[in-house]
Amino acid sequence: MSNIILESRSLTRRFGGLVAVNDVSFAVHEHEIFGLIGPNGAGKTTLFNLITGLISPSDGKLVYKGTEISQKKPHDIASLGIARTFQNIRLFGELSALENVIIGRHLHTKSGIFTGVFGIPPAPKEEIESKQKALELLELVGLQERAHESAKNFPYGDQRRLEIARALALEPEILLLDEPAAGMNPNEKQQLSDFIRQIRNTFNLTIILIEHHVPLVMGLCSRIAVLNFGQLIALDKPDIVRNNPAVIEAYLGNE
Ligand SMILES: Nc1ncnc2c1ncn2[C@@H]1O[C@H](COP(=O)(O)OP(=O)(O)OP(=O)(O)O)[C@@H](O)[C@H]1O
Ligand SMILES: [Mg+2]
Repeated sequence: MSNIILESRSLTRRFGGLVAVNDVSFAVHEHEIFGLIGPNGAGKTTLFNLITGLISPSDGKLVYKGTEISQKKPHDIASLGIARTFQNIRLFGELSALENVIIGRHLHTKSGIFTGVFGIPPAPKEEIESKQKALELLELVGLQERAHESAKNFPYGDQRRLEIARALALEPEILLLDEPAAGMNPNEKQQLSDFIRQIRNTFNLTIILIEHHVPLVMGLCSRIAVLNFGQLIALDKPDIVRNNPAVIEAYLGNE
């Protein structure tokens, strides 16, 4: 039986009259690739925003490695080991790929985000180490050749990979990926799938993956949670979820 790393207990988030996440309970196991699917507006990104502390729950709890994180701030949650990418890519377009990854890492180092990139010199040893680690991550995502180019010049697929490198720079234990294959061509999607499995193994990560591309989710995830109008309507192995009538009606039937 594997260990639980993250638990959502009756998690609820309201926006005015709308219940974006409605009494959702599940547990994610260490080292698992856990899928999160559901139609547009189902509450998937809201769930990520809750886990990463961008918003707080109206009700219920999030427990990470036995500690409640529901009321913690985003940087505290990040430093506890939860990193994410964004559905709407959030890179510093004017900065180079390398600088974007270094920023991701600086969230974690003592000198903080405003050193190095923004002018205040960090400790030389730390700076060299950060740069070295960032270059290694760029190599891992296949962007080492473009390390010094501005992020804004990158095609979509490369920006998504750069976001993953930036998130990995935090040295997380859990990586949340919000539609990482969006905008990628079929070939890139296949590569991404292999890549996600590879980084899970290399960094011993737990991954939660939001993705609309069903073959990718089915092929990659050990279990899949399905949200519909904020409610968890299924949570099981891919083959079982695929044949669940409520899921087909809510989601897969529309594919
Ligand atoms: N900050 C907010 N204020 C008000 N309503 C919000 C806010 N964030 C999300 N919502 C609403 O909550 C619902 C869930 O949105 P969410 O972005 O979580 O869906 P999603 O499952 O990620 O959808 P998609 O597949 O389109 O990305 C939607 O109705 C959305 O409009
Ligand atoms: Mg979303």
